Amino acid sequence: MPYKTLPKAELHMHIEGSFEPELMFQIAERNDIQLPYESVEALKEKYDFNNLQEFLDIYYQGCAVLITEQDFYDLAWAYLLKAKEDNVVHTEIFFDPQSHTDRGIAFDTVINGFHRAFEDGQQQLGISYRIIACFLRHLPEQAGFDVYPDIVRHKDKIIGVGLDSSEVGHPPEKYQRLFAQAKKDGFKIVAHAGEEGPAEYVWQALDLLDVDRIDHGNRCLDDAELVNTIVDKDLALTVCPLSNLKLCVVDDLKNHPIKIMLDNGLKATINSDDPAYFGGYINDNFAQLQSAVNLSDDEIKALIRNSFEASFLSDEEKAKHLSALA
Ligand code: ADE
Ligand code: ZN
Repeated sequence: MPYKTLPKAELHMHIEGSFEPELMFQIAERNDIQLPYESVEALKEKYDFNNLQEFLDIYYQGCAVLITEQDFYDLAWAYLLKAKEDNVVHTEIFFDPQSHTDRGIAFDTVINGFHRAFEDGQQQLGISYRIIACFLRHLPEQAGFDVYPDIVRHKDKIIGVGLDSSEVGHPPEKYQRLFAQAKKDGFKIVAHAGEEGPAEYVWQALDLLDVDRIDHGNRCLDDAELVNTIVDKDLALTVCPLSNLKLCVVDDLKNHPIKIMLDNGLKATINSDDPAYFGGYINDNFAQLQSAVNLSDDEIKALIRNSFEASFLSDEEKAKHLSALA
């Protein structure tokens, strides 16, 4: 089972999606916030989603107990301990600034808590990291412009910007001015596209946002010309198998298109998305996918190599990780 012991990179993980219910209750209690559930078990019973929106409603509710810098630190530290267990040596995480600033939490409280935890993770656990700030696409582009100066102010800590939240009805074109500005300012660009939305949204992510990576991207498989374009541009897909299952993007992991992606030459990677909600961290994604579609050792190695190649590490750092895999 090479995935367990091989060092790997994770490129698609929402830090707010790693909020385990036990920690959520603990933080809610210390902040004197009443969660609308009686117990951890009662909350977990809600983790039965028919689509992305049903998940997002619960996910944003969970975010609302995070108040102090220490809360954000504790959330990130808990993820890092899980990542260490799974032999993650590099992680590129998303956070959703607007889901905190819209509740009156200062941007600095959020980023400083996360940043301090990831710095400690690098020192104490040997896990390198990059931080990506995502815009919530269900909000107007102007709301993204409102938070953008804070992202720029923390450019020393934030490598890129992304686009997440409710996809259908919120195509990338809605955000093209904001992403053009971010590109001009030197941020890396990623976007969720083709998770629930059509291949057309993936085209827009390429043509209008000029993405450096595509998050999910499953629906690109509906359009052969799009697949060829993604391959030609050498753009990676950050694929999230257990997320796809829990959000009904696939009806059964046995029907997950990961092999089709690899066979088409797509640079697919394996990621956990929102592990606390979807039933597992990165090694659980590898384990369940492997038994569902019978991934070979070579395919697993290719997925792990892709994770380093598609990362935002320097060429020297990538080479170091890739040679350790050889
Ligand atoms: N925010 C957190 N997880 C997400 C996902 N899978 N898709 C879109 N937005 C998200
Ligand atoms: Zn995601």
